[in-house]
Amino acid sequence: MSHTLIIYSTTDGQTKKIGQALHDQLSDAGESAMLLSLDQAHSVDWSTIAQVYIGASIRYGHFNKALKAFITKFQAQLESRPNGFFCVNLTARKAAKNTPTTNAYMVKFIKNSAWQPQLQAVFAGALRYSTYRWNDRIIIQFIMKLTGGSTDTSKDIEYTDWDKVAQFGRDIIEQTPS
Ligand SMILES: Cc1cc2nc3c(=O)[nH]c(=O)nc-3n(C[C@H](O)[C@H](O)[C@H](O)COP(=O)(O)O)c2cc1C
Repeated sequence: MSHTLIIYSTTDGQTKKIGQALHDQLSDAGESAMLLSLDQAHSVDWSTIAQVYIGASIRYGHFNKALKAFITKFQAQLESRPNGFFCVNLTARKAAKNTPTTNAYMVKFIKNSAWQPQLQAVFAGALRYSTYRWNDRIIIQFIMKLTGGSTDTSKDIEYTDWDKVAQFGRDIIEQTPS
């Protein structure tokens, strides 16, 4: 058992980018880190994994369905080593909705999940109008209008607080089995 495994479930890449930042921080601290997509993680050799962290983004109120299937299949592997979970969404751009106890998606996840992750974090994601299909762009723009966000579709905005991601990285390093 030696690697710290970081698994991401992403649609537009922001959760992967956060996972990559954690991976690089752990590597810089001298840990052997591995970054895998949820799909790739199905074939991991768990005997080589010292600890495991999963990050997943929200789309139209939900995580990717594959997340739940993965957690159900590998609950024992997740629980038998230090572990954690982070959720990425745009609601978390608001200070009052960016913690595990104040972010509705995280609260619901914890309430319904058989796996209770030890470390938990919520990160704001990115608003990338330029990459959305027209129907998504119009719906997201409408949601942003309703919730006081940016409606200028000519501008992409990254709301992720990278200092907060780095703090989560330090928390992971503290949990690392010696
Ligand atoms: C089609 C679409 C639907 C989204 N739905 C929600 C939502 O219901 N609630 C929310 O807080 N954020 C929502 N978001 C924002 C995403 O969670 C945010 O853009 C995040 O950075 C996406 O992460 P990913 O690139 O790893 O998939 C949505 C984004 C898109 C493109």
